[in-house]
Amino acid sequence: MRIIFSFLATIALLTACTAGNDTVVTSPGGNVKLTLLTDDSLQLRYTVEVDGKPFMLPSRLGFEERQGFNLSQSFKINKVERTQCDETWTQPWGENKTLRNHYNEMAVTLSNAHNVALTLRFRLFDDGLGFRYEYNVAGADSLLVSDELTQFNFAHDATSWSIPASFETYELLYRRLPLSQVENANTPITLRTPDSLYASLHEAALTDFPEMTLTRTDSLGFTASLAPWPDGVKARFAGGSFTTPWRTIQLAHEAVGLINSSLILNLNEPCALDSTQWIRPMKYVGVWWGMHLGIESWVMGDRHGATTENAIKYIDFAARNGIEGVLFEGWNAGWENWGGSQTFDYTKPYADFDMKRIADYAREKGVKIIGHHETGGNVVNYEAQLDKAFEWYASYGVHDVKTGYAGGLPGGHNHHGQFNVRHYRHVVQTAARYHTTINAHEPIKDTGIRRTYPNMMSREGARGMEWNAWSDGNPPVHHVTLPFTRLLGGPMDYTPGIFDILYENAKNNPDRKQWNMKDSKDCRINTTLAKQIALWVILYSPVQMASDCIENYEGHPAFQFFRDFEADCDESRALQGEPGEFVAIARRAGEKYFLGAATNEEARTLTVKLDFLKPGVEYDAAIYADAPDADWVTNPTAYTIEHRTVTAADTLEVRMAAGGGQAVSFIPTK
Ligand code: NOJ
Ligand code: CA
Repeated sequence: MRIIFSFLATIALLTACTAGNDTVVTSPGGNVKLTLLTDDSLQLRYTVEVDGKPFMLPSRLGFEERQGFNLSQSFKINKVERTQCDETWTQPWGENKTLRNHYNEMAVTLSNAHNVALTLRFRLFDDGLGFRYEYNVAGADSLLVSDELTQFNFAHDATSWSIPASFETYELLYRRLPLSQVENANTPITLRTPDSLYASLHEAALTDFPEMTLTRTDSLGFTASLAPWPDGVKARFAGGSFTTPWRTIQLAHEAVGLINSSLILNLNEPCALDSTQWIRPMKYVGVWWGMHLGIESWVMGDRHGATTENAIKYIDFAARNGIEGVLFEGWNAGWENWGGSQTFDYTKPYADFDMKRIADYAREKGVKIIGHHETGGNVVNYEAQLDKAFEWYASYGVHDVKTGYAGGLPGGHNHHGQFNVRHYRHVVQTAARYHTTINAHEPIKDTGIRRTYPNMMSREGARGMEWNAWSDGNPPVHHVTLPFTRLLGGPMDYTPGIFDILYENAKNNPDRKQWNMKDSKDCRINTTLAKQIALWVILYSPVQMASDCIENYEGHPAFQFFRDFEADCDESRALQGEPGEFVAIARRAGEKYFLGAATNEEARTLTVKLDFLKPGVEYDAAIYADAPDADWVTNPTAYTIEHRTVTAADTLEVRMAAGGGQAVSFIPTK
C-alpha cells in the first residue's frame, strides 16, 4: 500500500491497418489475451484466455435493432488501432487517492453493407478487461435497440456469488451457486474457478443505457439482458449513434485482488467538474434508525422523528463527538402520501421542523446538515422540483443530499432502465451545479461514475442495515460477501454501527409500532458488536454513518472507535479473504491506520502482519474485539478493548467469534 506508482503517463499510439484475423490483444504483462473472431461466420465473436488457458469460449457480440438496422452481422474490418496507456491519476476521495491505469487497447473499426459503422474497443489490463461498442448508423434518425447479444460463454464451471437479476431492486440476499446452476444474475457476479482464478463480471460507465443483467442461455453460457422501457425497447437514441457502457471482467489470483483492483474506475471518464474542493467526505449520524425500528415516524405526529428539538439534540451530539454531518429524514411534507401518490414537497418543512433555526444552529456548531429527498419512485414529481429543491437546500447551507426511490416508478418504467439511468445522472449533474453531493438509496448500480462526477459519493444498491429492523435481516455471511460483489462497483452506504444489537432499548419503548409488514417481531442485528465496528472499515463509504440512535452511543466505550475513525482514506489494501467467509482490510487516513476484519457464521482467527503500517513509527493499537465468550447468536454484545504498542514489524492474531469481527485503530504515539 505504501508504494505509490511513479510512472509517467506514457501513451503511445501505434496504428496498424490489419487484415483478417490479426485481432488479438494481450494485457501489458501478457497474462490476459482476447481474440476477436470475424472470419468463420457472419457474426462477431470473442474469446478470452488467462495464463494461456481458455477462460471465455467463443461468445457473440452485437445488438438487435427494432427498425431493422443490422447491428450484429456481416461486418468487415476496416482498421485495427492499438494504443498503450500507463498513467497515474488522482481522485479527490476514494479507497486510494492515486491510481494506476495500465492497459493495452485494441480498437477494431468495422462496417457492413447496411451503413453501420462499429468500433469495438477492447482494453486489456493485467487484472482484467473491458470492451464497449461505439455505433454510428449513417442516415438513421433514431435507433431503438431491442436486444443485446453479448455472450459470456465460460470455459469451465465455477463457484459463483451473485444476487438474482431484477430490474427493480438489488436488495436481495446473495447466493453461492455453481455457475451452471445460476439461471440469471445481476452484476457484479463473482466467480472462483477450480484452479482458483477469481473473476467478476460487471459493467463500467453506465451513463445512458439500461443496466445489464445475465441470463443463462447454455450450460455455462450467459447472454446480456437489458432492462426495458415500457414498450419493450431496451435503449433508444435520437440520431444514429450510441456508445455502450464497458462490459467488464475483473481477474485475480487471490480473492482480495478483485477488491484491490481499480479497473472499474479506470474505465470511466476523467472528472467532468470544474472544481471539487466543495466535495467533502464525512462521518455522520442521523434521525433514521428510530423510524426503521418503529419508535419514531417520518410523518408528522406524536412520534415524529425530525422535530426541531430532536434535530438540536443530534447536532449537539455530532459536535461533541467530532462527527461532521447529521441526516434528517421525514422533515418535509409528503410522507403522509408515501406508498400512495408519492408527492413529496422538497421545499416545505413540516411545521415542527424549523429549518432556519436548525440550519443556524448547525452552522454555529460547525456541523453539516445532510438533506433528504425521498421520491417514493415518483421521479416526475422530483424532476419538476429538482432545481428549486437543491437551490432551497443550498440557501440553508445544505450541500449534501441523500436521495431515495422507495416505490414503483410512474408509467411502467422500471428502476434500472435507461429512462431512470438518465434520471439518476440528471440528478447528479443538477446537484453539482449547486455544489451538492449525492448519496442515493434504491439507486442504479455503481459502475464507477464517481470518477467523472465526484459529487456522486455513495449509494445503497444492496440489502443494507434497514433490513435488520423489519425483516429476518442480513445473515453474517452477507457482510463478508458484499466486499467481493456489490462493493467491487463502488462505495456503499450500508449504514453500519448498531450497538443495541438486540433492540433492548427499542423493545422497552411503549411507542414502538410495526410499520412494515415484513417485521417479524423478533428482529435483531445478526452480528456481534465488534463486527458492527469492523464494518465501518470494511464497507467503504466516503460518507460513513454511525446508524444507531444516539442514546445507544452515549457513554459507550466502544464508540471511541468512530470518534477516531476517518470516513475517507488515502490508501486501502484488502489483506485476506474469501467471498462469503471472511475478509480483512487495512486503510490509511493521513497518519492513522484502521484495520477491519469480519467472519461469517464460523469463528476464526486470522494472522495479520502489520507491514501495511509506516515502518519505524510506533502506534497505539486500540483493539476492539469479540470477548472470548462472544457469539452472534447467544452473546453478541460481549466485547473487549485492549491497547497495545505496535510497529510495522509486528503481527496480530485477529480472533473473531462466530458472526463476529475485529476493528483496530492505529494512532502514532508521538
Ligand atoms: C429506504 C432507504 O434505504 C432508507 O435509508 C430510508 O430511510 C427509507 N427508504 C425512507 O426514505
Ligand atoms: Ca433501501
